[in-house]
Amino acid sequence: MEKKIIEFLKENKENFISGEEISRKLKVSRTAVWKHIQNLKENGYEIVAQPHYGYRLMGIPDKLLPDEISYRLKTKLMGKRIFSYVTTSSTNDVAYSLGEQSMPEGTLVLSEKQTKGRGRMGRQWASPPKGGLYFSLILRPKITPTEAGKITLMASICIAKVLRDNYEVEAVIKWPNDVYVGRDKICGILTEMNAEQDGIKFIILGIGINLNTDISKLPKGSTSLKDITKQNVNRIQFLQKLLRELELYYMKIKNLKFEEIITDWRDLSITLGRRIKVKWRSSLIEGQAMDIDISGALIVRDDFGFFHHILSGDVTIMK
Ligand code: BTN
Repeated sequence: MEKKIIEFLKENKENFISGEEISRKLKVSRTAVWKHIQNLKENGYEIVAQPHYGYRLMGIPDKLLPDEISYRLKTKLMGKRIFSYVTTSSTNDVAYSLGEQSMPEGTLVLSEKQTKGRGRMGRQWASPPKGGLYFSLILRPKITPTEAGKITLMASICIAKVLRDNYEVEAVIKWPNDVYVGRDKICGILTEMNAEQDGIKFIILGIGINLNTDISKLPKGSTSLKDITKQNVNRIQFLQKLLRELELYYMKIKNLKFEEIITDWRDLSITLGRRIKVKWRSSLIEGQAMDIDISGALIVRDDFGFFHHILSGDVTIMK
C-alpha cells in the first residue's frame, strides 16, 4: 500500500492531495492512509500534511529502496528483480549464490555498505556507507569464458559515458576495468563467472562507484563524484541511467556487435598508444598498448616486436 501511496503522491507532486482522495482512490480508510503516511515518514519520505489541504511529497530518502529504483526504470532486463541490503559481505557473493539458484538474468543486488567488498587480484574494495553505489548484476550471456572480458569492457564504457553525458565529468578508462577522472580512480569493476566445460553458466558483474563518498574514507588515489562536482548526486537517478546504458551495451554483445563497443572504448581509453607494464600472476610484459582484440584482450607489442593478447592483468602506464 505504501508503494501505491507514494506513486499517487509522485503523480501529484505539485499539489496537496487530501486524505479523502487517497482513501477513495486506493480503497482504504482515511485512518489507514494516515498510518501508511506515518510509516513512510518514519522511513525517510518527506511528506507535509496541511490541515484542509492534505498531503504533499517533498522529498524521497537517500536510500537504495527497490521501489524507488524500479519507479520509471526504463529497462527490460537490468534490475527487473532487485535485492537491496543495508549491509552485506559482498554483493558479488550474494549475486553469485542467487545465480546458482537460477535467478534470472538482470537480477540486481545492491548494498549500502559491504563488510568484505572485494576488488580484483584479491584486493579489498573500500565500501563505506552513505554515498557509494555497490552493486552486482547476474548476466547469462552466450559467450565463451575467454570472452568474459567483453562484459567488463562494456561496463567501463557505460560508466564513463554516464559520468560524461550527465555530470560533465571527463571520465576515462584504464584497461581493463578502471574508470578514472584525472589521476584518480572513481569506479572499479569485478567480473566473476560460473563456467563449465561447455561455456558460461552466469557472470556476475560487480560495480563499485564513489558517488557522494567522502574521500577521506577512501584509499589514496581515489576520487568521488561529489569531490569533483562539489554536489551531492541522486544515487537512484545515477543508477537508473547506468542500468539503461548497461542494457543498451549488453544488447550489442548479445547481437554480436562488439566492434561498436571497441570503437567506443578506443575513444575513452587512456591506455591505448601508451607505453605500459602489465602484470599478470608471475609474468610481466612491457611494451606499447596497441589495441584490443575482438574478445576484449589488450594487444601489447613488446620491445622485441612480439605481440601479446592479454586477457587480464594489472596495468601501469609509464611516462
Ligand atoms: C577493482 O577495481 O578492483 C574492482 C572493484 C569492484 C567493487 C565492486 S563493489 C560491488 C561488487 N561487490 C564486491 O565485493 N566487489 C564489487
